[in-house]
Amino acid sequence: MTDKKGTYYITTPIYYPSSNLHIGHTYCTVMADAMARFKRLQGYDVMFLTGTDEHGQKIQTLANEKGVTPQQYVDEVVAGIKDLWKTMEISYDDFIRTTEERHVKRVQDLFMKMYKKGDIYKGQYEGWYCTPCESFWTEAQLEDGKCPDCGRPVTKAKEEAYFFKMSRYADDLLKIFRENPSFLEPETRRNEMIAFVEQGLEDLCISRSTFDWGIPVPIDEKHVIYVWLDALSNYITALGWPDDPEKYNRYWPADCHLVGKEIVRFHSLIWPAMLMSADLPLPKQVRGHGWLLLGGEKVSKSKAAKGQDVIDPVVLIERYGIDALKYFLLREYTFGQDGMFTNEVMLKRLNYDLANDLGNLVSRTVSMIEKYNGGFVPDLTEEGKCVPGEDGINYDEQLKEIAIGAAAKVEKQMDEFKFNMALEEIWVLVRRANKYIDETMPWALAKDEAQKPRLDNVLHNLAEAIRIISILIHPYMHTTSDAIRKQMGLWYADVAWDDALVFEMMSGEQVKKGKAIFPRLDIEKELEELYALGAKAAAEKGDINIPLELKDEIEYDDFDKLDLRVGTILKAEKHPKADKLLVFQVKMGTEKRQIISGVSEFYKPEECVGKKVVVVANLKPRKLRGLESKGMILYADNEVDGKTRYEFVTTVAADGNSVE
Ligand code: ME8
Repeated sequence: MTDKKGTYYITTPIYYPSSNLHIGHTYCTVMADAMARFKRLQGYDVMFLTGTDEHGQKIQTLANEKGVTPQQYVDEVVAGIKDLWKTMEISYDDFIRTTEERHVKRVQDLFMKMYKKGDIYKGQYEGWYCTPCESFWTEAQLEDGKCPDCGRPVTKAKEEAYFFKMSRYADDLLKIFRENPSFLEPETRRNEMIAFVEQGLEDLCISRSTFDWGIPVPIDEKHVIYVWLDALSNYITALGWPDDPEKYNRYWPADCHLVGKEIVRFHSLIWPAMLMSADLPLPKQVRGHGWLLLGGEKVSKSKAAKGQDVIDPVVLIERYGIDALKYFLLREYTFGQDGMFTNEVMLKRLNYDLANDLGNLVSRTVSMIEKYNGGFVPDLTEEGKCVPGEDGINYDEQLKEIAIGAAAKVEKQMDEFKFNMALEEIWVLVRRANKYIDETMPWALAKDEAQKPRLDNVLHNLAEAIRIISILIHPYMHTTSDAIRKQMGLWYADVAWDDALVFEMMSGEQVKKGKAIFPRLDIEKELEELYALGAKAAAEKGDINIPLELKDEIEYDDFDKLDLRVGTILKAEKHPKADKLLVFQVKMGTEKRQIISGVSEFYKPEECVGKKVVVVANLKPRKLRGLESKGMILYADNEVDGKTRYEFVTTVAADGNSVE
């Protein structure tokens, strides 16, 4: 085991619990999780923080619309978010909610510290506000009269407010960017921020008084603290600042705030200025990642259902597994850049890299060890060493060199948050090992008893390569890593990073074939099914319109032949001779009659009594299993999960109440 290397503190943004999270949020959290797991494996004392940003105007409006309190609203959504992270086995060490007392009190402490510094004053705010982004804008900053960050309409805000003397910190901020470029990565974001500050920083409005869903300003209860001041503080309140110095001192300053590019401004300007005002150290780094795009637009909660590509992480995980989704997100996109998300790109990636490359390597190797050596990993022998052939290549040495060199290459890429390149380094080894099988042709060696030592060495080398791969992939796909290790008979050993630096560790492990770690997908079939699911989700949200599949059209005259009446069910019982049928006694005006329907699958007799239903009163009577049915009660198909469900067409009076 590597010696403890010190602490490593990484954070994700705390997400708005305005509705369920989508693949975009998942992307950021999966990256942070992979980094946290990677650092833990390297021996760091890791603190990985995530959470939810629960105050603000947007949440209050949504709760009002739903007719619940903001607290009830966020409690429900946050439970779903926690479930998602649990399903995805996200290894966070703490989950902070900004409505928690531990946070509220400490945000007020921070406010007071800035106030006592003389950095907070009262004034009058007049400008624009973007509620979805919860951000203030001046007239000049708007683009085409809209929010320059998200392009959505802004509203005019004019209210008494507290201001933070942000302008005071402009020079300090520029100094940080210039003297410590790695404070903000990637470089494009840094240049944007430098340009932003150089235009001149305005003081920041940090309180609102037109709604009350927020943390009260300690010196003026009529105001709540601006949601971004509240939210950004989470990174230290979760560590117990200022009343639990032990934890705070252990992890602060954070090693990395991982955030989407649209909130880099808040993290690299406002947050450092707040910290400087409170005389607290700055985080070591802010890293802005790019967006996942759907049809050219940012995947977002409001646009989530427009496309027919499925972007609900829960659906994708149910179909393909956690590791497949994580692998795809980490491997496909280049950190810092935007990337298109489509189901097709995802499925191809899963088939090529996971089923073909990794899955095949493991299953071929395990099968061959079972077939040619009774299921045990052979030891290396001098006799079995590779003798370079005409091409002069020593296959064994080449495989070994790539295998034991991979860890350092992965580390180098991870230092720069290049998850895709880190995985690519591992796949260089995966592909090399597959090629090694083709080059050494164990099936041919097995035909000649004299070649047994050579065959043993080949199998050993393959087992070693897979063992190293199982360590290297652990931070990104720990379940798959564990499954591979089980198949390779390595269940007895903990995953240790340093073991990836050495070859020739295995001796006599008993391998055991398990089920395919990544089954091959029929891409066309999957796409069709995903398209149907995506379209259904979009239609349910009302974003697209899919015509129903119906019987042939009828003429008005056909319809006019029906005599529809309202009836009351007086009695209902099972048909004595047919399980599917219910026999009703129905009263319509002056007449009482018997009507039979095939709905016992949907209704119990006792549920039906008293219901007001619509009856086709002039339908020709007929006998059903010996009993007469006169007319027909109307039902409509209220399909659930693609299955017919008949429901009574009940009547509603003009005042909207059910007719009794
Ligand atoms: O901004 N592609 O919360 P939020 C990639 N509460 N990442 C995406 C994405 C996409 N299409 N959509 C969202 C907030 N994200 C504040 C943060 S922090 C002190 C307060 C990710 O729910 C990305 O990381 O709008 C982005 O920055 C974050 O979700 C925004 O989440």
